[in-house]
Amino acid sequence: MRVISCANQKGGCGKTTTAINLSACLATKNQRVLLIDFDPQAHSTMGLDLKPSSLEKTVYDVIKPKWNGLLGMEQVIVSIGQNFDLAPSNAGLAGAEQELSGAPGRERKLLDAIEAMTRPYDFIVIDCPPSIGHLCFNALRASQEAIIPIDLSIFSLRGVSKLMEIVLMLKEKLDHVINCRALITMFDYRTRYARYVLEKVKDEFGENVFNTVIRYNIRLRETVDYGMPIAEFDKHAIGHKDYQALAEEVIQAGVADVHQDYDVLREAENILHDTGSVSTVAQEAVYKTKPSFS
Ligand SMILES: Nc1ncnc2c1ncn2[C@@H]1O[C@H](COP(=O)(O)OP(=O)(O)OP(=O)(O)O)[C@@H](O)[C@H]1O
Ligand SMILES: [Mg+2]
Repeated sequence: MRVISCANQKGGCGKTTTAINLSACLATKNQRVLLIDFDPQAHSTMGLDLKPSSLEKTVYDVIKPKWNGLLGMEQVIVSIGQNFDLAPSNAGLAGAEQELSGAPGRERKLLDAIEAMTRPYDFIVIDCPPSIGHLCFNALRASQEAIIPIDLSIFSLRGVSKLMEIVLMLKEKLDHVINCRALITMFDYRTRYARYVLEKVKDEFGENVFNTVIRYNIRLRETVDYGMPIAEFDKHAIGHKDYQALAEEVIQAGVADVHQDYDVLREAENILHDTGSVSTVAQEAVYKTKPSFS
């Protein structure tokens, strides 16, 4: 089972769109997928046609410290389609951010819940909130891989810096390795600026960038209103083609790839030994991932 977080502190860069459509496309390729909506905004939940406020059980009931995990993950799961399940969320999850502070085992509530599951999945995809806090930390702690959507804005790259800091911390303190790969989203080939930035990002991230690029596609935007993945909404849309290609690339990369393409962080780790500062390490890592014009 592979656990993949879609994470970036930057809001609106395509985390949820990627989480929903990657999950749906993996499911059509005979992969058993659980999507965990780990964002109190509950956009994945809404995007799959569920009404968050009317849900009796959500992922919050699984990780809330007050009750020490009232429910198991399997008890909150909703079936979305063949091979495709969702652990939904609602605004209540926002409470977990504060409640987890000081709670024992606060950083591994999600990991514990996933480990306790007996239902077999090939993939668990986690849609993270646009903030770096206990929820994001829990998601990364539970993941071997992270997809970092980048919508080719400088803010998107800044969002990466905090994420790198957590990734490095997990490696340094817990020896927990996460394979991070950037995914270019909302790309518009027609603009020279976008093509220029794409090349810069590829230069800087090296092999840690998906070959697949998610192009700007209005049909992807429309799917949200209809509460369904692009695979169901419009099979012929370029958004569907792109997410199919991403799913294929994710499958092909395989678990064996998990410890590869880690150069930026490994190099950063060496700096850690010299400086003893995780922040400096993160800054160095981010420096390496920033387009040089920024
Ligand atoms: N490839 C794309 N083409 C056109 N619109 C897109 C594309 N990807 C995402 N969008 C739209 O951009 C907006 C933000 O996307 P999304 O909700 O996936 O970002 P997010 O990173 O999850 O945001 P948040 O940080 O708030 O959780 C949405 O309206 C979505 O429909
Ligand atoms: Mg989102």
